[in-house]
Order: sequence, then structure tokens, then C-alpha cells
Amino acid sequence: MSDSTPSFTAAGVTISGLRKSYGSNEVLKDISLSVNPGEVVCLIGPSGSGKSTLLRCVNLLEQPNGGTIDVGGYDVTDPDLDIDEMRRHVGMVFQQFNLFPHLTVLENCTVAQLKVLKRSKDEAQRVAQQNLTKVGLGEFADRYPDQLSGGQQQRVAIARALSMDPQLMLFDEPTSALDPETVGEVLAIMRNLAKDGMTMLVVTHEMAFARDVADRVVFMDGGVVVEEGPAAQVIGDPQTPRMQDFLKRVLDPTHVDLG
Ligand SMILES: Nc1ncnc2c1ncn2[C@@H]1O[C@H](COP(=O)(O)OP(=O)(O)OP(=O)(O)O)[C@@H](O)[C@H]1O
Ligand SMILES: [Mg+2]
Repeated sequence: MSDSTPSFTAAGVTISGLRKSYGSNEVLKDISLSVNPGEVVCLIGPSGSGKSTLLRCVNLLEQPNGGTIDVGGYDVTDPDLDIDEMRRHVGMVFQQFNLFPHLTVLENCTVAQLKVLKRSKDEAQRVAQQNLTKVGLGEFADRYPDQLSGGQQQRVAIARALSMDPQLMLFDEPTSALDPETVGEVLAIMRNLAKDGMTMLVVTHEMAFARDVADRVVFMDGGVVVEEGPAAQVIGDPQTPRMQDFLKRVLDPTHVDLG
């Protein structure tokens, strides 16, 4: 399924001293983090630690209050930045697939190509079909989203993002709304993308995926990076009590520490 010659240029991300507050609630406190071109970084941490906010700052769905973010040479925090131009290079996949219910799978994958990239209909359909095939849904182009399983819908969302030729993919818990039996098919697609050399920043609770696929794992808690390093080190041999406690809870959700 994967192609050995990547059809994209991978871009890196460099985040430095990032701060974000909602009112008096500072949810990102001086975060520095980088993802090199072609690297896969998994971001893990408890609910409310700021993972989604961090991801959303990278493509300016949230406006940072301080620090700098460089995405493939674009200074995201520069007030003169052409946001649409920067976003063209960044694909994002959310927990909810956000497909248009009244459009076919193929149309879902062409609409932004036509509007944003101004591609011809033929070209957009060709690219969409190619990416649908890549996610194993080449035969599903004419279906509507409600005729697909959750896992299939998420794969369409990935094909839609890929159809914009991103240089970087952001994933925010892409499998956490799925039935357990369809989680694997989405992770397999992400694994192939990583193998193809896509730069990926992935928020996930899937520790096995993080351990196997991530070049590095970043553990956040309370708006700061608590631990960071190779997956085998952070997940296999956590150094801080916070990471040890988090890991215990994700690996055994029935574990409740009543203090
Ligand atoms: N739009 C918003 N307005 C106000 N507060 C917000 C907003 N978005 C997030 N927050 C707060 O920021 C903090 C971090 O939220 P965030 O969604 O980034 O956490 P998360 O690590 O992604 O959690 P989860 O694992 O539950 O998705 C939380 O305390 C949250 O309540
Ligand atoms: Mg989140």
C-alpha cells in the first residue's frame, strides 16, 4: 500500500517558549518542542494537560500568547503571516471526522482541492482517488459517510487531508471515538504514512502505537513538558512519578488511586 518514494516534501516544526492562556488559566506554560522533517512525535498526557491546545496553536486554530512556532519555514506567530498559505501545508485529523454528510466520499476529498488549491475537477478527482486507494477505500468513492463505519470515515478524513499534499500531519486522538475493532485499521494507515516519511505530530492514548511508531514521545502534564525522549525510554522506563502514574492509568483504566 505504501509507496517507497514520498510524493511530498516533509516539513519540520519548531516550537519555542509557547504560552497560551484562556483568561487567567494558563494552559501552555513555556513549551518547547520540535519535530524534525520526516519524524513522528507522539504527544501523550492526561486530560486537560494542553495537548489539543498545543496542536491547535501549530496551525493557528488557537492564537498563542507567547513564544514562536516555525512550520516548514513559516513563522506562525508572525502577524503578517498568510495563514491560508501556511495551512495548505498542514493536514489535521481530529477525533471527530467532520465529513460533509451530503457529499460522497470522493466529493469530501475534492472540495478543498477545488476551492483552496484551485485544482481542476479532473485533477482533484485523480488525487482524491489515489489517496482513497492509499487508505484502502478505493472502492468506496461513491458512498456517503453514513454508509461507512467509524474507522472507514476516519480513513476518508485522512485521505481528504492527504489530498491537499500536506508537508506535516497533525492528529488529535484520531482513534479515540472509534469502536475497538476499527482502531487498528486507522493506526495501520498512520503507520504507513510514517513509513513513507511524513512528518507527524500525534496526540494519542495508544501506547503500543506510540512505542512502535514514534521516533520520540513527549509527555505533557499541567501545560508543561514533563518527559521527552525515545519511545522506548519514555514509555518503557519512565523517570518521573507523574509519567509513571499516567502510564499505570492508561495501561489499566480500572486502576483508581484513591490516595
Ligand atoms: N476554548 C477554550 N476556552 C477556555 N478554556 C479552554 C478552551 N480550550 C481548552 N481549554 C482549557 O485548556 C486546558 C487544556 O485543554 P486541552 O483541550 O488542550 O487538553 P487536552 O490535553 O487535549 O485534554 P483531552 O485529553 O481531554 O483532550 C483545559 O483546562 C481546558 O479546559
Ligand atoms: Mg484533547
